[in-house]
Amino acid sequence: MFDQLKNSTRTNIICIFGHPIQHSMSPIMHNVAFKDLGLDYVYIAIDIAPNNLKQAFDVVRALDIKGANITVPHKETTLKYVDEISPLARRIGAINTIKNENGRLIGRNTDASGAKKALKEANININGKNIMIIGAGGAARALAHSFIEEVNNLVIINRTSDRGKTLATELTKVYHKEVLYKKFDNKIFEEMLPSIDILVNTTTIGMFPNILLSPIPKNYLHEDLTVFDIIYNPLETQLMKYASEKGCRVLGGLDMLIYQGISSFEWWTNKTPNIELMKRSVLNEFVVK
Ligand SMILES: NC(=O)c1ccc[n+]([C@@H]2O[C@H](COP(=O)([O-])OP(=O)(O)OC[C@H]3O[C@@H](n4cnc5c(N)ncnc54)[C@H](OP(=O)(O)O)[C@@H]3O)[C@@H](O)[C@H]2O)c1
Repeated sequence: MFDQLKNSTRTNIICIFGHPIQHSMSPIMHNVAFKDLGLDYVYIAIDIAPNNLKQAFDVVRALDIKGANITVPHKETTLKYVDEISPLARRIGAINTIKNENGRLIGRNTDASGAKKALKEANININGKNIMIIGAGGAARALAHSFIEEVNNLVIINRTSDRGKTLATELTKVYHKEVLYKKFDNKIFEEMLPSIDILVNTTTIGMFPNILLSPIPKNYLHEDLTVFDIIYNPLETQLMKYASEKGCRVLGGLDMLIYQGISSFEWWTNKTPNIELMKRSVLNEFVVK
């Protein structure tokens, strides 16, 4: 991983903060792309517990770390610790990318554009569709804000009512379009899924290492449903397996990961990485595993 280090006094450090973090494929794809472009950068994954997040940003400033990605569960809390927030990230209420400009930390959100690009490339049209998003965390916020204006109906399902209700209420207010919130419950899936066109999983249920879990039992899925599971580790989640068996159209999180990563990379370096190389490096990691 560190074979691209040329001069340790000048090497630019980028990191990703998460908890847990062992599932992350971001170091692999970014390090491959830095090396490919001959950039003296290194990308490091760091496990930061929620109560240490503030200190982590102090370290970013002190060590002149050039940028960071933010993942589960820190995307919302990060808003408190940066100096400037892009209008989109502020509207979404979640940051997944930081750039350090001479000690000033600027936060953006590239999850929203990454998800939309992945859907577009897969020819999945959200326009006029009934969408159910399960989860109300950082990723759910990005997707909900980027989908709301195009869809027919949007329903948010979440385990913790406060978080789910807050997101639904906020969307309703900002976009003048009613967004429903329902508590995460099998009864709700049974009742509502028959009228849903696209189901988006943004919970961590099924993510490595808990790969046998699915947020929804197989029997509630139906063949007219498109299932977008934004988890990318594993590449095919249990939910995606169930959905394929039921004849649904299925999209996993890998392409979203690549597209959100490209936007971050371009912002940090002003260079465009090789998409195919980044994608191959992640796929190769799964083969090796
Ligand atoms: N493909 C990509 O590019 C990409 C980008 C971003 C995120 N992701 C993936 O998306 C997932 C979520 O990321 P995030 O940053 O949004 O995380 P987050 O802010 O921590 O949100 C996690 C969500 O999962 C829900 N959840 C967790 N465990 C649950 C359980 N046992 N039962 C029901 N709900 C549960 C949480 O509900 P509560 O509110 O009740 O806690 C919350 O809604 C992760 O798997 C991440 O890797 C992928």
